[in-house]
Amino acid sequence: MTRQFSTVGVVGLGTMGAGIAEVLARTGLTVVAVDVDEEGLTRGRGHLDHSTSRAVAKGKLDEAARTGLLGRISYATSLDALADVDLVIEAVPERMDLKARVFAELDRICRPEVVFASNTSSLSITEIGVHTGRPGKVVGMHFFNPAPVLKLVEVVRTVVTEPDVVTDVVAFAESLGKSPVVIGDRAGFIANALLFGYLNHAVRMYESRYATREDLDAAMRYGCGYPMGPLALLDLIGLDTAYEILDTMYHQSRNRLHAPAPLLKQMITAGLLGRKSGRGFYTYDGPDSPNVV
Ligand code: 3HC
Repeated sequence: MTRQFSTVGVVGLGTMGAGIAEVLARTGLTVVAVDVDEEGLTRGRGHLDHSTSRAVAKGKLDEAARTGLLGRISYATSLDALADVDLVIEAVPERMDLKARVFAELDRICRPEVVFASNTSSLSITEIGVHTGRPGKVVGMHFFNPAPVLKLVEVVRTVVTEPDVVTDVVAFAESLGKSPVVIGDRAGFIANALLFGYLNHAVRMYESRYATREDLDAAMRYGCGYPMGPLALLDLIGLDTAYEILDTMYHQSRNRLHAPAPLLKQMITAGLLGRKSGRGFYTYDGPDSPNVV
């Protein structure tokens, strides 16, 4: 790795951003975490507190290491706090207008050699790149939920990403203990392109009353060895996020496999977003609880 990414900015402290900040700080890096307002920062801190206390309870982290980890993360509500970072990883909601605005502003604030990575799951990295004056230094760095646990990082290169930027980001992901793969800029990259057709199909089976949610999930856990069934996994991902990913892939490919099941939209409209709202296909009585009420 030629570039040293010692101080990393994370923009957006939702589930993914907070998980990414934890992975970075656990590796000993200095993290500057930015969210739009104090409420966003409080929510992000809550994710980090919860996740690191669980690690302590499980004996994977001692209190001193936890204090050290959390102490390496500073918080801000302005992107100006990222003036001195070596790398930015963006994890704001999946809207191109929002990401374009964030990156255009970062382009003004950060040094010209700073690498910009987006954790987008399905939006075009090429399009994000053209909103900056440095499209050669823009890549995708797509983590998987829960980021502190899952090892995959999809490193997305565009036709203009400089090859040494890709090499350095791959080496960086490895230094975080991750297993990176490199892929071109296509909606869904590798994992989501394969996964979401399956998840969508499960929703269609459920909405046509083909099988109960428990039986659908049990079939894939006990028959195929998946750690979670598809409906429980959709609750973990967030139904709104899943809908956006499917919709983007459908608009790009017109493959019916990715046409979002109507039930997804209805559940989102009713506020059933999965774990983060307390109810999705299942009902949750805490952030970790898989309890069906
Ligand atoms: N944060 C930190 N650590 C967590 C965690 C979280 N949110 N959730 C679970 N863990 C840790 C636990 O502490 C535990 O660690 P240990 O084994 O060292 O003690 C380990 O993960 C296993 O957790 P549990 O024993 O509580 O429960 P499970 O064995 O059921 O594992 C799971 C939970 C890791 C979530 C597992 O069920 C799993 O891998 N599920 C599939 C998740 C998946 O497919 N994610 C990809 C979604 S797609 C995506 O992210 C792309 C995006 O673009 C949408």
